[in-house]
Order: sequence, then structure tokens, then C-alpha cells
Amino acid sequence: MTLSVSSMSFAYEKGDPVLRNLNMDFSTHSVIGVVGANGCGKSTLFKLLLGLHTPTEGSVNWSQQPIDYSKKALIQHRKNVTLLFQEPDQQIFYTDVYNDIAFSLRNLGIAEHEIEQRIQRALDLVDGKSFAHKPIQYLSYGQKKRVALAGSLVMDSEYLLLDEPTAGLDPNGTKQMKALIRSISDLGKNVVMSSHDINLIYDVCDYVYVMSQGEMVSQGEPQNVFLDKRFIEQVGLEQPWLVKMHQEFGMPLFRHEHEMVAGSSLIKESI
Ligand SMILES: Nc1ncnc2c1ncn2[C@@H]1O[C@H](COP(=O)(O)OP(=O)(O)OP(=O)(O)O)[C@@H](O)[C@H]1O
Ligand SMILES: [Mg+2]
Repeated sequence: MTLSVSSMSFAYEKGDPVLRNLNMDFSTHSVIGVVGANGCGKSTLFKLLLGLHTPTEGSVNWSQQPIDYSKKALIQHRKNVTLLFQEPDQQIFYTDVYNDIAFSLRNLGIAEHEIEQRIQRALDLVDGKSFAHKPIQYLSYGQKKRVALAGSLVMDSEYLLLDEPTAGLDPNGTKQMKALIRSISDLGKNVVMSSHDINLIYDVCDYVYVMSQGEMVSQGEPQNVFLDKRFIEQVGLEQPWLVKMHQEFGMPLFRHEHEMVAGSSLIKESI
């Protein structure tokens, strides 16, 4: 099924538009990145994809049809599309981890024994078993982020939107997140993510949309999108380090660190 936006604009209340005439198709690649400076509209876009706000012009489309904003249709839409919010507090409602993760599944009428199984699996994936029984107000930011992520994973939806998934995570958490994104994509699901960690985007995304002040200003495969240093800096971003190594030191353009490591040992052997 496809998730897309067409000619979509959006303004909060009576303010200026924060999203302008966006055309994006999130079904073309398995892991799609949305990047841009603070305030360019990434989180707002994700909330629109979930149906939390209604476009002022254009539409959000599921399976090429504009989504229906009736309560019933939105419940169905959110079985297909799940959002990991940038701020875990926007997502966490209950005071204990288990009930919080169970919340949306109970809403969908899923049987308690299946809820139990899904939660155990999700907590395993986010390494959250050790704090599963703690009250949420005692958790650190990174732990809350993991709880929120587990809450998104249990939904098992076709599209998983991750808004800054690694912000506040330690190096292990970031590594797990990378592995998780790959395994979700291997299951045939679609991931759409925003991140200020441009190296993470370059590493895991197959396609990237670049936004600036509410507009989509560039799109393409990461090895092409990040090549134009001036443009990338103009929109408030930085080039991934592997692209810099290519442009500044004449190294081949590698997509992943492990390719560079393998490549450099070949160079050594040939000397
Ligand atoms: N609830 C709101 N009411 C009014 N304006 C808002 C609201 N939320 C966000 N904005 C404005 O909309 C614009 C886009 O914000 P948004 O949070 O989508 O940006 P972002 O790209 O996610 O930024 P960041 O990189 O900081 O997460 C900003 O100018 C912001 O001030
Ligand atoms: Mg944001």
C-alpha cells in the first residue's frame, strides 16, 4: 500500500504555512529519510501523515486515495501507519511501562495474551526489560524513548514513521536502532525517518527528501543528494563524513563505513 502527500500545504491556526506544496511518495523505497534544519517542518509532516492535523491544501493519501478524517477511518489509518514522536512525553500516557505499551493494542481489541507476547518481544528489541516495571516518571530520557519505540513496534504496522529516533540514545541504543530499522525493512515494511544525524541517514536510507522552510528542495538517493556541498550547507545541513572523504581526499564514494574498511585493506594489499 502507498503512503503519499500531494500538493499538500499546512498552516497552524491562522499562521503562515509551515508546509508548502509538498509532493512526496513514501512507498518508493524501503527506508526514506526526511532531513532539514530545525523548524523546517519535519515533525509537522509526520503528524499530518498520521492524520493528527488536516492539510490546508492538497492531501495525505493512503493507497492513492485522500485519507478520511472520520474517527473510525483514522483508527484504521493508524493500524497502517505508526509514529514514534520526537518527544517521548507526547506518546506516553500511562504511569507504568507495561500499560503504556499495551494502551494502543487494547484500543484495537487485541486479546490480552497476545498483547503480553507482543510487549515482551518489543521490550526485547529495545533492550527495555530491565525497566519494564518501573514507573515512567523515574525513567531517563533515553529509557522513555525506548518505551515509546516499543509502543510503536507493537503496532506492527506497514509504515513506521520515526521522528528523530536516536536523539537522546547512547551509542548502543543508536546501534540497536540501526539494526532495528534494517530488520523492519527486511520484513517488507516501510520506514520513514527524520534525523539530525546525517551520517545515520546516509547509512540507513535508500532515498532522501531534503526540506527547507516548509518546502521540499531536493530528493534522491543519498549518494547523489549530499554531493552538492554548497547547497547542503545553504539548507542548514552538513555532508555525511563518507561524502566529505570522497570529495576532499579523493576516496571512492562509499555508502557504509564497513565498505571503506574493506576497501582500504585492498589498497594496502596492493601497495
Ligand atoms: N503546535 C504548533 N503551533 C504553531 N506552530 C507550530 C506548532 N508546532 C510547530 N510549529 C511551527 O512549525 C514549524 C515547523 O516545526 P516542526 O516542529 O515541524 O519542525 P522540525 O523540522 O520538526 O524541527 P526540529 O528539527 O527542531 O525537530 C516551526 O516554525 C514551528 O515553530
Ligand atoms: Mg521535529
